[in-house]
Amino acid sequence: MAGRSVVVGVGHYLPERVVPNSEFEKTLDTTDEWIRTRSGIERRHFAADDESTSDLATKAAEAALADAGLAADDIDAIIVATSTADLTFPSAATMVQARLGMTKGFAFDVQAVCAGFVFALSNANALILSGQAKRVLVIGAETFSRIMDWTDRSTCVLFGDGAGALVLELQEGAGTSDDRGILATDLNSDGRYKDLLYVDGGVSTQSTGHLRMQGNQVFRHAVEKLTKTAETALGTAGLGSAEVDWIVPHQANIRIIQGTAKKMGLPMDKVVVTVQDHGNTSAASIPLALSVGKQRGQIKSGDLIVTEAIGGGLAWGAVVLRW
Ligand code: ACO
Repeated sequence: MAGRSVVVGVGHYLPERVVPNSEFEKTLDTTDEWIRTRSGIERRHFAADDESTSDLATKAAEAALADAGLAADDIDAIIVATSTADLTFPSAATMVQARLGMTKGFAFDVQAVCAGFVFALSNANALILSGQAKRVLVIGAETFSRIMDWTDRSTCVLFGDGAGALVLELQEGAGTSDDRGILATDLNSDGRYKDLLYVDGGVSTQSTGHLRMQGNQVFRHAVEKLTKTAETALGTAGLGSAEVDWIVPHQANIRIIQGTAKKMGLPMDKVVVTVQDHGNTSAASIPLALSVGKQRGQIKSGDLIVTEAIGGGLAWGAVVLRW
């Protein structure tokens, strides 16, 4: 027998405002065609002026709890993966905790940019397997619209806002790769690549700053590092690509998603793709894709899923789980 962190609920929230590519044609030297062909993005959601990351996160959390049939006080811990928390402190997670009416347990944020949800899932799994929590709400939530430079066509057309959440619960498994739940994780970072993707401001430099990215350089790292981390995590679980039902990748660029699937030897009909509708929602993209994938009827109980992501840091990683 072995303890496993099993997904018992999933949900998401997208802000009401949908912005099609054509809207950028009015203010920037860009076209819908360029954005679609280079990134696969067709539209994205942007939060309202009075809507914050913890608002998005709370709505996604409520949806995941409802899906699990659980109440807030059934949860022992909340982890929010975000790089765009409402305030410098306290964490977005404690704000979600209060909004859910949860009066016990603990809550904290994880910051690994676009890889944040994979890092948060891995940490939640470690909390569960070490006996520190039985049920963990893991949320990815972002308002990247707040850190865009609206005059920089090479970045501002790529990102969107949203949130997704999972409830993980300790269950007993047989200790084999047939178990439901998280089977393996692989986390990596290399801070030497900071200049490829960063925000040129922050508390300690006394400004909010804007996202800066050398997109083509990040692209060069992405397919290779994502394939390697996915294959490493699969290997740790004693599995290979042939057994994968779904890749649920970070949704940054359709060409990165296609390149990684191809390198792993998997067809695109085994990949959950939402980038056309959401853009790059950073740490929110994987839980959003898991929730939408389940709603579409793609992801079913017992399916073997590989999630993989890369982002600022660089930080990257993968989680293998059976749904
Ligand atoms: N409209 C029209 N032209 C544009 C636009 C635009 N919106 N943006 C850039 N261009 C131009 C550039 O200026 C350049 O012109 P030039 O050749 O005259 O200099 C040309 O298009 C090509 O630019 P590249 O950057 O080389 O284009 P590329 O094919 O690499 O696509 C993109 C750019 C979409 C950004 C791609 O590189 C990418 O997706 N990179 C990875 C992004 C990513 O995965 N980030 C990680 C996660 S994000 C996170 O962690 C926060």
